[in-house]
Amino acid sequence: MTILAFAGALRAGSFNRKLLAVAVEALRGQADIDLLDLRDVPMPPYDGDIEANQGLPEGARKFKERIAAADGLLICSPEYNHSIPGTLKNVIDWASRPPGNPFKGKVALLMGASPGPYGAVRGVLALRQVLTALGVLILPASVQIIRSGEAFDASGKLVDPKNAAQVEKTCAELLLVTRLMRD
Ligand SMILES: Cc1cc2nc3c(=O)[nH]c(=O)nc-3n(C[C@H](O)[C@H](O)[C@H](O)COP(=O)(O)O)c2cc1C
Repeated sequence: MTILAFAGALRAGSFNRKLLAVAVEALRGQADIDLLDLRDVPMPPYDGDIEANQGLPEGARKFKERIAAADGLLICSPEYNHSIPGTLKNVIDWASRPPGNPFKGKVALLMGASPGPYGAVRGVLALRQVLTALGVLILPASVQIIRSGEAFDASGKLVDPKNAAQVEKTCAELLLVTRLMRD
């Protein structure tokens, strides 16, 4: 079973990358983890003329292949202006273009971290809407890390045991449901 794991933020010090690392650790040994950095699949803003004249950019083709090869998805994303960061929406839009829809039938677990009091929950809700349109089965439970600036210790672990437990619990659900969907 393969889980494709990526953050919706690009910066090196991203709290969502930290959260992703915690979740990947919770999954370790129980599935093959394909850890993707969106910087490794660069693509321009979606442009129908580029698509019509040149086909999908190489980054988009690679991203589609990685999604297609996975059974489940783990996405940790911030919210920008109460919604999906443009970078993440853009790569999803490119990946949704034909041939084929690599998202269809995948299982996804969504997480978000933000320095504010809402833990990127509005971004995760917006992401839920978009991925649902693409046929992804999204787990009802998510992980929202509020006050992300204080949520991680120096080694990257979650300080609050309740947050750590929620990551463990939801990752176990991702494995269970992905296995059920695959078999
Ligand atoms: C364009 C932009 C819009 C943002 N909008 C929100 C927002 O609506 N809600 C929020 O909690 N944080 C917002 N933030 C702050 C981000 O949550 C914060 O920068 C966070 O650390 C980004 O995630 P990262 O640490 O994974 O890079 C915004 C940041 C940017 C750059």
